[in-house]
Amino acid sequence: MNYVLGIDLGTSGVKCILVSEEGNILGSASKSYKPDFGKNGFVEQDPSVWWNGTKEAIKSIVALYPETKGKIKALSCSGQMHSSVFLDKDGNVIRKAILWNDTRTTPQIKEIYEKANGLDNVLSMVYNKALEGFTLPKILWLRENEPDNFSRVSKVIMPKDYINYMLTGNIKTEVSDAAGTLLFDVKNSCWSNEMLDKMNLSGDILPEVLQSTGVVGEVSDELCDELGFAEGSKVIAGGADNSCAAVGNGVISKGQAVLSVGTSGTAVGYLDSINNKVTGDVHLFNYSMPDSLYAMGCMLCAGEALNWLKRTFFDDVSFDELNALADKTPAGSNGIIFLPYLFGERCPYSDPNARGVFFGISGASGKGEMIRAVMEGVAFGLKDLFSLVTDFVDVNELYITGGGAKSKVWGQIIADIVNRELNVLNIEEGPSFGAALIALVGSGICPDFETAKSKSVKIIKTIKPSQNAEKYEKIHKLYTELYKTNAEMFKKIQEIF
Ligand code: XUL
Repeated sequence: MNYVLGIDLGTSGVKCILVSEEGNILGSASKSYKPDFGKNGFVEQDPSVWWNGTKEAIKSIVALYPETKGKIKALSCSGQMHSSVFLDKDGNVIRKAILWNDTRTTPQIKEIYEKANGLDNVLSMVYNKALEGFTLPKILWLRENEPDNFSRVSKVIMPKDYINYMLTGNIKTEVSDAAGTLLFDVKNSCWSNEMLDKMNLSGDILPEVLQSTGVVGEVSDELCDELGFAEGSKVIAGGADNSCAAVGNGVISKGQAVLSVGTSGTAVGYLDSINNKVTGDVHLFNYSMPDSLYAMGCMLCAGEALNWLKRTFFDDVSFDELNALADKTPAGSNGIIFLPYLFGERCPYSDPNARGVFFGISGASGKGEMIRAVMEGVAFGLKDLFSLVTDFVDVNELYITGGGAKSKVWGQIIADIVNRELNVLNIEEGPSFGAALIALVGSGICPDFETAKSKSVKIIKTIKPSQNAEKYEKIHKLYTELYKTNAEMFKKIQEIF
């Protein structure tokens, strides 16, 4: 039996799963770490933290399953997107990586639009609008704020590319992470020379781009020994976490999409070509399935809204009790609407000033109403993301994943509000499982994604919309109006603080 590893290199930890050639998950090992939060929205991480964490997680999983020692033939990483690793000409890290959730680059966003001559031109070159978290603004920030460091930059890569480099000595990236740099022509799947020219940057700083299933190289002999791999074990390029998560959640062909209710929320749909007017409201990125794309809407606060509510007001109440209270409350929470924009918002509104709102509280409102309103508010946000995705994708099979999907009442609320059947899968590992499937296909152990999926992914439950869908349709209109009428207020209140 052959085995592969799927590694999910996140912001707060790394998780490594061991998967057999049949697509069965044997087990997992994780290592936690923290990003460094600084002033003015700085969020950084030392790449050595990822590398040490990854080695530890690999060693732990191999130790748990000694029978696989020497039989791990390939691995692949899913990684946090956009975060920038700056390497010098000898391949050494120049400074800490600047992460996807770092917000220092607002002046560079302005600069990008000025140099590119407006949003339409940016969209025509890279198919996405410029956001603070993306890679290009970080490169410009370095050029302006740390010119000495900038002058030493030989290559810019993303976190999982760094792990691939440490394992093989080869500096490469792949399409799904390249797409998040704002320097990649997503439609033609190549670096955008036009964008590089406009930004006055040399293309030499960008690495060769593979497909996600491309082979970066072989794990060095020394590391094969240290980590317990088979000699010549292959490192497959892997992908951006959202891309890998969608693959791991069964989105592998036209018509399929997935909603994810984690800390943040996403709707991701498979796309074989860009077939509609590009407005920048939805992210259009290259996918980990060869020669395909995905449309993604991303809300910054989804499951975290309920975590916040529990932490702040119901610390001594279990999640089961919260669910029971929500379940006893009628649809619409007796007139309370919650806006889930606790951290500002990315989609459908790109608004850093937006904040959470409870609207419509009365003297009769109780705990159940507040809890259910939060669940409903998050579901309204997911509906907005899904509708951005359906501008590009004709969805006929929709999956749901993440913590929120585990709650029976919340899952039903989401099905009612999105007004679609939601399929729950047997797989909960999302990004790391997607990475493992990429490793199986990229290494040739499995011929294609269809075979890999059919062996391992099963629908275990389908949630159908109930008669509440109609009522929620009306409330959704008010939810939208509630944000729009308050958008200016969010700005004004931020000016005071
Ligand atoms: C996607 C994004 C985040 C990171 C988190 O555009 O910024 O989902 O990939 O890891």
